[in-house]
Amino acid sequence: MAIQDKIKELMDMRAKARLGGGEKRIESQHKKGKYTARERIEMLLDEGSFEEFDMFVSHRTVDFGLDKQTYLSDGVVTGYGTIDGRLVYIFSQDFTVFGGSLSEMYAQKICKVMDKAMKVGAPLIGINDSGGARIQEGVKSLGGYADIFQRNIMASGVVPQISAIFGPCAGGAVYSPALTDFTIMTKGTSYMFVTGPRVVKTVTGEVVTEEELGGASIHSSKSGVSHFAAEDEHEGILLIRKLLSYMPQNNLEDPIMTVCDDPIDRLDDVLNEIVPESSNKPYDIKDVIESIVDYNEFLEVQRSYAPNIVVGFAKFNGMPVGIVANQPSYLAGVLDINASRKAARFVRFCDAFNIPIVTLVDVPGFLPGTAQEYGGIILHGAKLLFAYGEATVPKITIILRKAYGGAYDVMSSKHLRGDINYAWPTAEIAVMGPKGAIEVLHAKELKEITDDQERVKFIAEKEEEYRNKFANPYVAAKYGYIDDVIEPRNTRFRIIRALQMLSTKKDQNPPKKHSNIPL
Ligand code: HXC
Repeated sequence: MAIQDKIKELMDMRAKARLGGGEKRIESQHKKGKYTARERIEMLLDEGSFEEFDMFVSHRTVDFGLDKQTYLSDGVVTGYGTIDGRLVYIFSQDFTVFGGSLSEMYAQKICKVMDKAMKVGAPLIGINDSGGARIQEGVKSLGGYADIFQRNIMASGVVPQISAIFGPCAGGAVYSPALTDFTIMTKGTSYMFVTGPRVVKTVTGEVVTEEELGGASIHSSKSGVSHFAAEDEHEGILLIRKLLSYMPQNNLEDPIMTVCDDPIDRLDDVLNEIVPESSNKPYDIKDVIESIVDYNEFLEVQRSYAPNIVVGFAKFNGMPVGIVANQPSYLAGVLDINASRKAARFVRFCDAFNIPIVTLVDVPGFLPGTAQEYGGIILHGAKLLFAYGEATVPKITIILRKAYGGAYDVMSSKHLRGDINYAWPTAEIAVMGPKGAIEVLHAKELKEITDDQERVKFIAEKEEEYRNKFANPYVAAKYGYIDDVIEPRNTRFRIIRALQMLSTKKDQNPPKKHSNIPL
């Protein structure tokens, strides 16, 4: 064959591979409001940066007539490229080929990019759109999934892993995204569940739609499985790009600093007034976050799940940080099971990837009640305590108002190796709130007061006394548990200074195989 013919053959094969399952199936994909595997890669990566691997791979199965049905690439597109000039590895499942179902060779293709990502030290992005295990391949497909899971586990804490769910993701297939750091789902076109509606109906009698069982809204609000619910694939892709901008390439590097024109000493007088005089009145912690970070830009993670705690990424003078903040405007910012789990996982992500943590505290304590106790709030609360205590990245804490009880300890206190702990003058640091404290301390006297008016007066007096004694930052400051009491409007500047001072911080935990975090 002449060289021109050989090149033509190559071009023809490439063109065939790019068509995936064929025009008709591509059209059907578009009709569902979805892009194809290759279109998604084009949208995500820097223009012209994609280098594809294994375009000519096809499956090796002969059963069920599959020997007569082969497609180049075998249902998944893999390779590498750049995002904002930084290397990433990617796989993108192609629903037009056997419904994106996973075969032995398909799994091998994914494993190849995962291995490269680990060796080179670059993030891994997986775009999921698949009918699960390729039924005709049987156990080879199940083994392929497990090979991917094992690599997800090994890569955890070494390179950032992001999963986009842009179509079906069911059965055991859900466990790969679950093992990664962040999951993004699209509203209306994606779902995740261990067993689908038909099996649910057979086993439990429950009638439920795919959307109700495992749509983006459910997983971003009720289960916490998904970190973001994007309106569409465009938004999903922008979110991946944005998320990566806060992360280093791997655990041995620091996150990328960017040039910042937002003045570091920008004062915000509004902050001096933001905490209401009455300690029971709410305010929105996101107003505080947006006020102090660069360009008021905050990428909130798990916005609709456990909104009593807010977590997400921002920058201070161009330096990426993770922010954890109690939200007084939702359940008074109380710590419950979901809030503890959400924040603990976020803190561990930041610590694994050298991202400093800024914690804003206004917490009345842990949520009381049988629902929480039976659900194991002791263990779940311990997760957050553990995560903060274990973290060795720079940790800066600002107590804005309440820091009561165990929650004071948990929220990145000095005692958990908090590096810089500041308080606003409005801080109240105590074992519990005045009401509860008076009921315990003066139980006997209260029993003896029979006149209602007298009782109210007594409580008010004692509460005032208690507040004067404990509901301020100065007792904690006296013991050095608070490094300084700062003017609220100056918070941005004080945080930036502290971050700069801590930029060469070195801390480590004792050598061990791994810790035993309460799961
Ligand atoms: C082989 C599959 C497939 C699968 C879909 N297809 N799923 N082929 N193995 N798992 C094929 C279809 O035959 C069809 O081929 C094409 O993909 C598109 O599928 P449709 O059904 O036409 O598409 P749609 O109506 O959009 O429905 C999508 C779907 C449905 C909801 C995903 O296909 C479905 O329910 N598939 C089976 C899902 C499933 O039960 N998977 C196993 C889960 S258990 P043609 O040729 O017509 O285009 C599992 C275990 C993993 O994954 C364990 C890991 C530890």
